[in-house]
Amino acid sequence: MAERWATSRGGLQGIDLHLDPAGPGLRRGLTDALRAAVRTGRLSPGTRLPSSRSLAGDLGIARNTVADAYADLVAEGWLTARQGSGTRVADRAVPAPPARPVSPGRAPGRLPYSLVPGSPDLASFPRAEWLKATRRALTAAPHDAFGYGDPRGRPELRTALADYLARVRGVRADPEHLVVCAGFAHGLRLLCDVLRARGAGTLAVESYGLDDHWDLVARAGLRTAPLPFDASGTRTEDPGEAGAVLLSPAHQFPLGGALRPERRAAVVDWARRTGGLILEDDYDGEFRYDRQPVGALQDLDPGHVVYLGTASKALAPGLRLGWMVLPPSVVPGVVAHGAGRSVGVVEQLALAEFLTSGAYDRHVRAARLRYRRRRDALVEALAERAPDVHVTGIAAGLHAVLRLPPGTEQTVVQAATWQGLAVLGLSRFRHPDADATPGDGLVVGYGTPPDHAWTGTLEALCRALP
Ligand SMILES: Cc1ncc(COP(=O)(O)O)c(C=O)c1O
Repeated sequence: MAERWATSRGGLQGIDLHLDPAGPGLRRGLTDALRAAVRTGRLSPGTRLPSSRSLAGDLGIARNTVADAYADLVAEGWLTARQGSGTRVADRAVPAPPARPVSPGRAPGRLPYSLVPGSPDLASFPRAEWLKATRRALTAAPHDAFGYGDPRGRPELRTALADYLARVRGVRADPEHLVVCAGFAHGLRLLCDVLRARGAGTLAVESYGLDDHWDLVARAGLRTAPLPFDASGTRTEDPGEAGAVLLSPAHQFPLGGALRPERRAAVVDWARRTGGLILEDDYDGEFRYDRQPVGALQDLDPGHVVYLGTASKALAPGLRLGWMVLPPSVVPGVVAHGAGRSVGVVEQLALAEFLTSGAYDRHVRAARLRYRRRRDALVEALAERAPDVHVTGIAAGLHAVLRLPPGTEQTVVQAATWQGLAVLGLSRFRHPDADATPGDGLVVGYGTPPDHAWTGTLEALCRALP
């Protein structure tokens, strides 16, 4: 039987119900179609639906099928049925908000090449090693691991992370104060609630950063106020009225500098003076190519710094694995939300095993080499093919900022599109209230392409540059 489209005579004028009798059954199909019409606002609250007899006649189906579908939707709360006034769309059936355009930073580009920052080379995810770690972790896990467990996360993972962070990032980490979360963004969301409970109304942020994070903070009820910056980077000595400061000290995203020692000290002084908190976003701290990475700011004052880490760069963002090392006073506020229970126990145990077995170190070592080669190739190619364009920022991470001649940013982004390359301009990362601008640029995520596409991607970039 072909698809049936029906416009009922009895009160659904203009509303087409798309029914697919070959689908999961007529009753279910009708229920889904009516629910979708209510959810999207095509059937507004209070609208009276045709009688089951009339709609059944229109659709050429049994009356009982319509009556059953209506009953299902009444039970779910989408419709109400009252003697004498028939079946109506429930008043509280709120139409879903219209779909928001996806932020370009995360949009799956349809272009063949991408240098959009924010992702490691996903093709290099260590599938076999991860599988091995998962199998070993599952075999060894006690039965109680599969319960709700500690709201801070699995103790195996908290212990493994505390050791790793102390060794590699110089973090003073006690597993008791370490909380597992579903990535940096999730941790930030939880911390916003803690900040509000402490009476903060404003989070100071860097003038350049990710609008996804600023939006998240705003939705959580806090204002974001950009900190000024100069040629030496973010100025941290006076975050004003803010109750907390969000910084990426090891490698500012996206501008690419490391926070200078006197500015690290200044922000710690501010936190001590005011009781404010510093949120340290250490998203790519393991990737430094010219020297040993600068240790975490947290080590300067674990009582005032929240250290946030993520597996999104070193492994993959799809894992949704992150961690926070908290000042002891902050732990109860975060734990109240059961943060560590937001991540599946299998992933937590697998990451613990991945860390303790040395697989994480091996993977990061290999990734560091791959990204370092890519960055070197980028610098070399630009020196040869686009001498007016300069790579700025420290040799670190998975992205670099290319400084462009004034007034050329939009043209270059457009030219890249014509070369089949998705790349983002620096202006896209500017906080709307920021004062200064460092000028035109591109934020090039050289970690993003898979190995096989890297040469073509670099070639497309060079062709787009002035
Ligand atoms: C500046 C910055 N912080 C943090 C993250 C990691 O976020 P998450 O752990 O939520 O994936 C990213 C990833 O794109 C980032 O660019």
